[in-house]
Amino acid sequence: MPFRWNPDLTEQDVTPEAVFQQRRRLLQGAIALGAGAALGLRPHSMLANTGLTDVQKDPSPPDESLTPFDSASSYTNFYELGSGKSDPSMHASKLQTKPWHVVIDGEVSKPGRLALEDLLKPHPLEERVYRLRCVEAWSMVIPWIGFPLEALLQRFEPTSKARHVSFETLYDPAHLPGQNQGMLAWPYREGLRLDEAMNPLTILAVGMYGRLLPNQNGAPLRLVVPWKYGFKSIKSIVRITLTEQQPITSWNQKAPEEYGFYANVNPEVDHPRWDQSKERRIGEFLRRKTLPFNGYGAQVASLYAGMDLKKFF
Ligand code: MTE
Repeated sequence: MPFRWNPDLTEQDVTPEAVFQQRRRLLQGAIALGAGAALGLRPHSMLANTGLTDVQKDPSPPDESLTPFDSASSYTNFYELGSGKSDPSMHASKLQTKPWHVVIDGEVSKPGRLALEDLLKPHPLEERVYRLRCVEAWSMVIPWIGFPLEALLQRFEPTSKARHVSFETLYDPAHLPGQNQGMLAWPYREGLRLDEAMNPLTILAVGMYGRLLPNQNGAPLRLVVPWKYGFKSIKSIVRITLTEQQPITSWNQKAPEEYGFYANVNPEVDHPRWDQSKERRIGEFLRRKTLPFNGYGAQVASLYAGMDLKKFF
């Protein structure tokens, strides 16, 4: 099995300015031609320089245009780097990603603290083209590069008491300006039920668009749970804890009436401040209908059989 992770590369290293500008021109050209975002720019032609080699291609990507890389990396939510959509890309270099360690603890037989490269080594990378639907009613289609969270959790051997998984982002207020403001109780925390975490759609991502994750998108390791609102997809993870009880999560703690623990994309349950029945795909003019479970109902609706999803929103 080839080694697929090169810890010495950074997002800047792997994307020389000339390549980036060339990609930018191609993207603009594709859009100008009405050819749809990023046509011909699927990641595999560009993997050679990235350290993310031999990525297995998504066998069934949605039949939708990719959001241009420029939009996906400049219109972001990462409150540790500021609350405006362009703040995280402007302040991206403040996030210190080297060295990076991840702790896996709680209800596991083999807890540990691993350097990122050791954490990633056994996991073959795959591309997954997933929609990301934000609670603020915008959405994107992004080719993520990562691996199933389940594979990682199994390595640490969950005990019979494990029912939930809790995730924590880096806490580094000396570098992350948002953590000196009281917008959320830091560090950012998220959580899933164990069966949600083990679902094959749930991935840990290390890259997107054939390159390492830009800092503003959650380098070096983030969660992607495509049937849930974007805030569940926690960025820059340093701790994964298996628990018996449902864990505290940042947005639910801040405003429980607005952000439920489940946060399944549900066009029938409005957010108090936003209509959730429609969404604006970044780059499109007309709003489109939001699909239950963000279009992934066939794979995940059974996880919630018998639950009132208006109550458990
Ligand atoms: N993770 C951390 N640590 N901090 C954040 O502010 N924002 C969340 C989520 N993960 C956030 C986070 C929200 S609200 C969304 S919509 C997604 O990241 C956005 O992911 P993207 O910026 O890569 O599109």
